[in-house]
Amino acid sequence: MLIKRPDDIKSSEITPESVYLNRRKFIGKGVAIGAVAAAGVAVPWALRSQPGSDAGESMGSQDELTSFEHVSTYNNFYEFGTRKSDPAENAHTLRPRPWAVRVDGEVAKPGDYDLDDLLHGVTMEDRIYRMRCVEAWSMVIPWVGFPLSTLINRFEPTSKARYVEFETLYDVEQMPGQRRAVLPWPYVEGLRMDEAMHPLAIFATGLYGRDLPNQNGAPFRLVVPWKYGFKGIKSIVRIRFTETQPRNTWQVSAPNEYGFYANVNPEVDHPRWSQAKERRIPGLFRNTPTLMFNGYADQVGHLYEGMDLRRNF
Ligand code: MTE
Repeated sequence: MLIKRPDDIKSSEITPESVYLNRRKFIGKGVAIGAVAAAGVAVPWALRSQPGSDAGESMGSQDELTSFEHVSTYNNFYEFGTRKSDPAENAHTLRPRPWAVRVDGEVAKPGDYDLDDLLHGVTMEDRIYRMRCVEAWSMVIPWVGFPLSTLINRFEPTSKARYVEFETLYDVEQMPGQRRAVLPWPYVEGLRMDEAMHPLAIFATGLYGRDLPNQNGAPFRLVVPWKYGFKGIKSIVRIRFTETQPRNTWQVSAPNEYGFYANVNPEVDHPRWSQAKERRIPGLFRNTPTLMFNGYADQVGHLYEGMDLRRNF
């Protein structure tokens, strides 16, 4: 599926939620992946069963998709308010097109790019990922996106680029929540280069087959499924390649509670609560055991070999 400009997309091309739910049933039963692929439908693959993988073993009723309704009305996007319902109510002021992205730092091709130019020719994929928030709730979301590496390679980072930093739009007209100093603005996040180049790390431009709702981070945001949700910075306007480790917003705001790595780890508690179990939205109880690296340990564990994950939280 190639990216199209929003105004090119006919409503008939938007995948209804029921189709995703049916695809999910196929995958859940472990059958017909080939048949789905043969029919020309993109296969949601990130939760696919793999021999010995946590993701595969944990598949079951707890990995049913979270409904579009819940994914788009229970949000964290402090630029539009701090209550979970605020972003859906307030994010209509965000204008996701036209959208400029500044690329700078340790890179051979810096510049101010138009997002649609960047996305031209990029192949979009459907990917179902678990999202685990540091507040101990979680969702299972069918994203539309593409690996970070697709864009990063085009910018040609230099040999000095060890980290990549992302920045959200700062514009109090479009993001009225920035009038209050609840966080240092603009929102900043970062990844080590090898994390950013991992194929599971994606830029998402949509979910449930449609463009990202503003409250979910339109027009594009980061999704790093083995990390806590706060790494998933929304509405990105700047991508900067650096030699030194970026200081991410939550780390600046509460350094004893939030680190740079933020890998999902049931054994390392948040100072104020346990991280061993999660509440799968819309459930009311925290009764789903949290998996190491959110269930993606087989795919990403090697990135952290030899590191003390209690110190590097
Ligand atoms: N990005 C920006 N710019 N501002 C934010 O407040 N919140 C983060 C992350 N990205 C946030 C952000 C947090 S804490 C989480 S859990 C996820 O977005 C929530 O993503 P969702 O609302 O799409 O579920």
